[in-house]
Amino acid sequence: MSDEILLLSGPNLDQLGTRSPEIYGTQTLQDHVDRFTQLATASGFSVRHLQSNFEGDLIEAVHGARDTAVAIVINAGALTHSSWALADALDNFPGVKVEVHLSNPAAREPFRHVSTLAGVVNGTIAGFGARSYDLAVEAVRRLLAPS
Ligand code: DQA
Repeated sequence: MSDEILLLSGPNLDQLGTRSPEIYGTQTLQDHVDRFTQLATASGFSVRHLQSNFEGDLIEAVHGARDTAVAIVINAGALTHSSWALADALDNFPGVKVEVHLSNPAAREPFRHVSTLAGVVNGTIAGFGARSYDLAVEAVRRLLAPS
């Protein structure tokens, strides 16, 4: 049985650190990935991370995860608000799915209030900055724990 979490990062998240630090903080994507990996590993998971600025790369990663991963944690960036194709791909993934955001899109511009992904994931964690990633590990752990 796989113990892999596929961590996906969408467009512009490779710019974290310098991108709108007043909204996203000064930590880089690598900082978030390292922290996520550290916590996930401590809970017995392995982590594979992909960042892409291209929708199709993320969709293909979701397709591939069917055979490799027990869970997908995704911060899709602005694709969250526009990509029905990514939502369809995630809908077809049978494992645990957690949507993550550093900021709280519901408290920002109206176009960020819609998430195409919200209806196909187990749940969404948003607005806790770097802690959103910590909480995502916890969500995966609890959702996969035998009850
Ligand atoms: C984001 C929120 C999105 O609205 C935005 O387009 C991002 C980052 C977040 O982590 O807060 O790129 O997903």
